[in-house]
Amino acid sequence: MPATQSQIALLRWYVEMGADESIGWEAQDRLAPKRPPAAPIVRPAAPVAAEREPDFAPAITSLAGHPAEAATTLAELEEAVRAFEGCALKRTATNTVFADGIRGAPLMIIGEAPGADEDRLGKPFVGRSGQLLDRMLAAIGFSRQSNAYITNILFWRPPGNRKPTGDEIAACLPFVWRHIALGRPRLVLLSGGTATAAMLDRSEGITRLRGRWFELQVPGLDRPVPAMASYHPSFLLRTPARKSEVWRDLLAIQAKFDESG
Ligand code: URA
Repeated sequence: MPATQSQIALLRWYVEMGADESIGWEAQDRLAPKRPPAAPIVRPAAPVAAEREPDFAPAITSLAGHPAEAATTLAELEEAVRAFEGCALKRTATNTVFADGIRGAPLMIIGEAPGADEDRLGKPFVGRSGQLLDRMLAAIGFSRQSNAYITNILFWRPPGNRKPTGDEIAACLPFVWRHIALGRPRLVLLSGGTATAAMLDRSEGITRLRGRWFELQVPGLDRPVPAMASYHPSFLLRTPARKSEVWRDLLAIQAKFDESG
């Protein structure tokens, strides 16, 4: 049955309030009087996962056979992305949006996908969310003109800015891993739920994952690269009340740079 206008409005309000993830299929009435507990269901004890800080993200299995594999410099990688015909989004996009900023910068930011402004200009994060990203970076002493490098999971705009599909992400992801291997950043900022889920291969929403450090096991690099997951600037434009959480994430990035010299 299609959702009614009032159901859609209620869902929008939940998202605005930060409840952007469903954690169960059944609606729970938490105000209902508590029933006596049902007889316990006995299940074999599951092994308890060891607590680990930071989390390790799974390495992508291999780049074998993907055009990303052959690139040995960022210039070659850009050429390979521009020549790539394996992502249907390229057909509807005006421009390929590869990256902006300083090649080899210590901080690499990975967003979701180009929007209308980025598609028109061929550069990532140049619209309203890009301006906010620039201000966020400036607050901790970074900029694309001096020490930051910005890219996306996808190099072409999804029509109407829709969410990227799993196939589109899978087609582009080997380029992103190679991008990190060749850019050799000291830290990565995963900006938003799409970049976070794609790079960490995690199903939890960004609300659960933000503010945490992960170790990216990048094929071709002998040491893992620390990555912080955080909210996307376009989410912050819609939900300014969440800016304080991102501020904490930015301070954690700054502190990590400071502590590693
Ligand atoms: N949002 C993104 O994730 N990337 C861009 O380049 C622009 C907006």
